Amino acid sequence: MGVQSLVVACGAVALCLALTTATNPGFVVRITQAGLDYAHQHGITILEKELAQLKLPDMSGDSRVGRVGKVRYELSRLRLRDFHLPYSRITPISNVGLQVSISNAFAELDGDWRVKFLFVRDHGSFDLKVENVYIKISLRLGSDAAGKPTVSTSECSARISKVRVLFSGRLGWLYNLFHGAIESRFRKILEDKICDIVDKSVQNELQTYVQTLPVTARIDAKTGIDYSLVAAPRATAQSLDAGLKGEFYSLAHRSTVPFSPLPLALPSDHDCMVYFGASSYFFNTAGIAYHEAGALVFEITEDMIPKDSRFSLDTSLFSVFIPQLEEMYPNMPVKFRLSTPTAPFLTIGPGGISLNPIVEAQAYAILPNSSLAPLFLLSLTGNVSAVINVRSDHIVGSLDVGRIRLSLKDSAVGTFEVRTMQSLMNILTSSSLLPRLNARLDEGFPLPLLDRIQLSNILVRFYQNFLLLGADVHFQPRG
Ligand SMILES: *[C@@H]1O[C@H](CO)[C@@H](O)[C@H](O)[C@H]1NC(C)=O
Ligand SMILES: *[C@@H]1O[C@H](CO)[C@@H](O)[C@H](O)[C@H]1NC(C)=O
Repeated sequence: MGVQSLVVACGAVALCLALTTATNPGFVVRITQAGLDYAHQHGITILEKELAQLKLPDMSGDSRVGRVGKVRYELSRLRLRDFHLPYSRITPISNVGLQVSISNAFAELDGDWRVKFLFVRDHGSFDLKVENVYIKISLRLGSDAAGKPTVSTSECSARISKVRVLFSGRLGWLYNLFHGAIESRFRKILEDKICDIVDKSVQNELQTYVQTLPVTARIDAKTGIDYSLVAAPRATAQSLDAGLKGEFYSLAHRSTVPFSPLPLALPSDHDCMVYFGASSYFFNTAGIAYHEAGALVFEITEDMIPKDSRFSLDTSLFSVFIPQLEEMYPNMPVKFRLSTPTAPFLTIGPGGISLNPIVEAQAYAILPNSSLAPLFLLSLTGNVSAVINVRSDHIVGSLDVGRIRLSLKDSAVGTFEVRTMQSLMNILTSSSLLPRLNARLDEGFPLPLLDRIQLSNILVRFYQNFLLLGADVHFQPRG
């Protein structure tokens, strides 16, 4: 849709409101249960390490023990040996966020004990086994002012149902008389500490990590992609969906896109860990950005013509069809300047991507003093199809052009039959224009991926108005 048709559309008030209030994403990222499970595995490994760093304070107190009377005890050098989280799962909760449930976790601690009663002093060491630890964590997802994702703990509860202390040493029996009191103190302290550590890990590790989403990615000297979130990521019963702006822009000057993304409903596939929905909006803003950045202008001169094409690009080439040309500019080199009068616009349907761009080809004679004399202007149209793939975490593509149709738009050298230019234009597009465009498309455009993520098992499918990419992810640990 061009500016003009938008104005027409806005004649109908309802549609105009729909266009101005819509915040449809141009690009959707879906993380399925398989993807959440994969992320969860890594998260749990980190949490295990963090919990193993848990520091416990020294403890002291008095306890009454039968005939012995008041016993003063001190527990010190408390050291957590390990913390195991063998059973856990992550579940998306519709419109709420993510829930992580950890069950049957266990830990082991050791430390030193010291007692004082009557005239007796003694010390030894002890082991503490913590079992049946249940942790429930709710994660809330959001987006910040820059459109980066945020994650925080909205709820954490830890429950320990079994703590056993084993004292060794000459007076170990004594402790074993009041272990109940010590165990419940340990339980209380540990339950609080676990949620402190969960909170800190979510903030320091998870939040820091999700913020590595490159919401504005500069992709080359001329353009960038805006991947900022248009809303907080949304949990459904099966997945976590993030709507991103998905808009290319020219670095030199970013203009408002004259159309809005259409709603994008991903199919309910769930075999891949992650799905990307790239709407036609995403690709069409690329067309606008490159057009505005002046990147869709190509000059074709003699030196770019393949050596085996048995002609040279000069005025004598046209003398048969345009006799006046040879008289006006005898034996002068010719140059073509190919450009797009408007940004190319593509459509995506179940059959793939297609576009019918208009390309203008202005021919010039290059005069002996190097100035250019305009000869004629041709308009080229043709069906272009695109093949899309993913390589090295970039969307890559290549274009193929069907039959090119020509029309004469303007001429400074009189009229002539345009079909006489057909084979020349076929050669110029297939041997010069397309290879240059395809070389750029082959470098590709970055996908919105968090740090150290690599994609594999790529799937590419076309739907009405969007391209669906499916992939599994692999997290590359640091180092
Ligand atoms: C180049 O030559 C053409 C024709 O001889 C003339 O009209 C034009 O002004 C010249 N341009 C310059 C920059 O000298
Ligand atoms: C271009 O594609 C359209 C629709 O797919 C078709 O009707 C038309 O004939 C094609 N034109 C050429 C020149 O191939």
